[in-house]
Amino acid sequence: MPKFVSPPERLLRSAASHASKLSSSYLQTTNTGASSASTGAAYRAAFCAQTNKPLVIKKVYDTKQLGPSELRIRIRACAINFADILMCQGAYQEKPNLPFIPGTEIAGDIIEIGSNVTTFKKGDKVLALVNLHGFAEQCITDVDATWKIPNTVSYATAATLVVSYATAYMAFDRRAELKKGETVLVTAAAGGTGLAAVDLGANVFGANVIGAAGSAEKTALAKVKGAMHAINYREQDIKTEVLSITKRKGVDVVFDAVGGDTFEKCLRCTGFGGRLLTIGYASGSIPKIPANILLVKNISAVGLYWVREEDQGSYRFKDPKLYKHSIDSVVRLLGEGKIHPHVGASFPLNKINEAFQFIKDRKSTGKIAITMD
Ligand SMILES: NC(=O)c1ccc[n+]([C@@H]2O[C@H](COP(=O)([O-])OP(=O)(O)OC[C@H]3O[C@@H](n4cnc5c(N)ncnc54)[C@H](OP(=O)(O)O)[C@@H]3O)[C@@H](O)[C@H]2O)c1
Repeated sequence: MPKFVSPPERLLRSAASHASKLSSSYLQTTNTGASSASTGAAYRAAFCAQTNKPLVIKKVYDTKQLGPSELRIRIRACAINFADILMCQGAYQEKPNLPFIPGTEIAGDIIEIGSNVTTFKKGDKVLALVNLHGFAEQCITDVDATWKIPNTVSYATAATLVVSYATAYMAFDRRAELKKGETVLVTAAAGGTGLAAVDLGANVFGANVIGAAGSAEKTALAKVKGAMHAINYREQDIKTEVLSITKRKGVDVVFDAVGGDTFEKCLRCTGFGGRLLTIGYASGSIPKIPANILLVKNISAVGLYWVREEDQGSYRFKDPKLYKHSIDSVVRLLGEGKIHPHVGASFPLNKINEAFQFIKDRKSTGKIAITMD
């Protein structure tokens, strides 16, 4: 006779099977009884049980034995990416089966290592990428998706580094081939990805950065990070300002994570031979490109899709070596003190819905971290 499974338990088992499909396998249940887990402590996690509804915090009981190249990590912080919010709304290109635990970039301490692991030890402070399961107090990662971090770097800073900085790094290095002295226009320049683009563009690639953002506070932050000029696009027209700053030449490179009308305005102030990077659509609107403008100014429109193991168009899937190189590069730059990620705010796990709303309300700057206090 089949054993009765309560709805919450079913929810957790189903989430477990999904997490299992996506990355490492987990067996989760409500924390009501004993378990055969070796590490086995119950821990909290934030579940998306229904799209467009608040996340719910539930206990997870992890009974998974580690694979030979896996690490069990006590998570201290997990960054929020705009994609997490879109995914919980069912509006992202990847649509996990419900319920799932969102969150992809974490930092914490290793509490257990797999039998073949020689490059890490228990107690190492690390950052890691997981395919879901980040908004939790524990996770399992693979050695290939885990990086040691200096003790001087905070967990929140480490957790918020990789997605934004490696995306911007790959975009400039491989897609736009940004050169020293070129001019770059960055939209949403105080957002997670935008601010990383400002920091890398100015302080690593040696470009002249124009940061465009939606408030005086945000443009000021972009300038602190290295932007030479700033445009408040809620009050100023991007094209007019850029043409004035560049003496009508236009910019060499655009880094746009907003889309919609903003993208087209950026296209209209891109100069001869320019490269227009389409990074994301925070405005919720996917722009259409008037091809004639590309033609008459020899402009290239360039896509960059960095994240997501299971998405077959991403660098992570198509060119894992290059993908890893982008992460190695930003972890190295962080260690050398050449880049300075900005954690705009931190929220404890039980305030995750407030943190999501804070970002949706466009109140955030840099990246927002969830801490497992
Ligand atoms: N291609 C890739 O591989 C890749 C990697 C990372 C992120 N992304 C994408 O890049 C975009 C930005 O991500 P993020 O993590 O940097 O987000 P974020 O930190 O929340 O920044 C988004 C910013 O977009 C601006 N914005 C403009 N219109 C908006 C609207 N209607 N609603 C909300 N924000 C609006 C806001 O800045 P202002 O107020 O200054 O306008 C906001 O702060 C997302 O679409 C994300 O999926 C793509």
